[in-house]
Amino acid sequence: MTARARGKGASRDRPASEKVELPLSIADWRPAPIVGQVVLLTTCNEDGTTNIAPKCWAALVASQPLHLAFNCNREHWTARNVLRSREFVVNVPGVELAERVWATSRLPHPRSVESAGFTELPATRVRPPRVLECRAHLECSLVHHLEFGDEVWLLGRVLAASADAEVANAVDPFDVMRSFMYLESGTYGIIGGANRVGSKRGR
Ligand SMILES: Cc1cc2nc3c(=O)[nH]c(=O)nc-3n(C[C@H](O)[C@H](O)[C@H](O)COP(=O)(O)O)c2cc1C
Repeated sequence: MTARARGKGASRDRPASEKVELPLSIADWRPAPIVGQVVLLTTCNEDGTTNIAPKCWAALVASQPLHLAFNCNREHWTARNVLRSREFVVNVPGVELAERVWATSRLPHPRSVESAGFTELPATRVRPPRVLECRAHLECSLVHHLEFGDEVWLLGRVLAASADAEVANAVDPFDVMRSFMYLESGTYGIIGGANRVGSKRGR
């Protein structure tokens, strides 16, 4: 009997007995076995103006000292700005900004934070600004990059981190922050709250 035939409850409790092979091409994955958090990257152009763009493959890569890396097409303004200026800010939007995040990716360049309809908030350690409407921010300085064909991994040291006081002070900060993940083209999933191990809330 397949997991689907056993019904929703059973498929959550027991591993599926059958496996299907997934292609090694993310465009054809259904479902994507690994998903990435949607963030808004802010960088500075050569003339000092700002650039904003969504990215979704960002991950912490070291904790002491704190480092993160994100994926970017090498031709994108974000990658070119980071490789030249060696600074960037990772801004974490809440799901209320999801439509605006997608719209931002389609705007022509030059694409400043303000031309995309967001508000610049000066960062504390780097030149690119934070995005006021976002819930949390990581200010980074580039330490390394790794190229894969048309793409590049940009690895930065986190110099400063900040979050909305409303989020930081909440009983369940994840429920207030409501960050979201890129699942597949035009599709996202929401982190809608924390589930404590041992409680029944997550079932
Ligand atoms: C939700 C979302 C996530 C995205 N993630 C990435 C990503 O991880 N890497 C990438 O290169 N482009 C990604 N893109 C596409 C870029 O945001 C888009 O091509 C943008 O115009 C690039 O802007 P830039 O040239 O200013 O960097 C994503 C787009 C959306 C809407």
